[in-house]
Amino acid sequence: MPNSFDSLSREDILQHNLVLHENTAEQYDQIHYYLRNRFEQRCLWQDLRLIHRRLECAANGPIRYLDLGCGTGNLTLKLLSLGGCVIGVDLAPRMIDVLTQKVAAAGFAADFRGFIGSADDLLTLEKTHASLRDVQVVCISSVLHHLFRWETPFEQLTELCPSLRLAYVTHEPCSRASLTPPHAISRAYNRGLRMFDLLWSRTIRHPKEAPADDPVADYHAFKDGIDESQIAEMLSASGFREKLIHRRYNMRRTTQASILDNVVCRVLRNDIFPITMFTLAMMRGSAENGQT
Ligand SMILES: C[S@@+](CC[C@H](N)C(=O)[O-])C[C@H]1O[C@@H](n2cnc3c(N)ncnc32)[C@H](O)[C@@H]1O
Repeated sequence: MPNSFDSLSREDILQHNLVLHENTAEQYDQIHYYLRNRFEQRCLWQDLRLIHRRLECAANGPIRYLDLGCGTGNLTLKLLSLGGCVIGVDLAPRMIDVLTQKVAAAGFAADFRGFIGSADDLLTLEKTHASLRDVQVVCISSVLHHLFRWETPFEQLTELCPSLRLAYVTHEPCSRASLTPPHAISRAYNRGLRMFDLLWSRTIRHPKEAPADDPVADYHAFKDGIDESQIAEMLSASGFREKLIHRRYNMRRTTQASILDNVVCRVLRNDIFPITMFTLAMMRGSAENGQT
């Protein structure tokens, strides 16, 4: 753990993220539970289908998506298979390489472009990649907590992209301050569920264990989380007034534990930092009349 999160600079955080994600790009899909968790993947598919359908009725041609911090394509490959065109931006060149190969193997090369850059410096990236200005939807999955300031992408995107209609954020840790402290029964339930999740994930034998957490790279997941109500306010102030999706859920290793916690025993589910995640989608104007 760093001595103080306050002494970390943006450069420290960028550097840790670059090293971590460069070194793990090739094994990324094998070592991260959420990519195999069928509960999480199903929720993601439902969200992306809803977003795509909502925009496609008013679109002239394919919908142009920006997958910020695209990694190995958890979102990009789904968006491409729905019929969208995708720009993927990632800090780690190897992530872009891995994703470019996956996109080509899936037959979507013509609809994808991958750029190396930082999610919190889109203004610089736009100088060499003007196509960023044309994106209609920005999708962000599990990236904001890696940034020094998670507000920056929203400030820059609303300035940079005049055609932006929708912002989708998912799999980010809820802010510590917004969580309800668990009571005694919930604590006991949580301990039991955690043990089941660990045992079950070992029984299933994931091929490779995830590397130890890097608190500097996962900055806000160790600090105070991400304030989803502040994101909603920022977007709303820029005209994104329709809340299309908003939910909280607990991230678990296995599908079985996710379903138990988030569906079957929903009333017992308690808030835990940084396990309680949020998903938020906000839309600007109305899809039917093409307003922005
Ligand atoms: C937890 S992974 C999520 C990847 C993908 N979005 C997904 O849902 O699987 C975080 C990704 O963000 C990238 N990343 C970290 N810091 C970044 C930054 N400042 N700008 C752009 N990408 C960044 C990492 O390289 C990594 O690919």
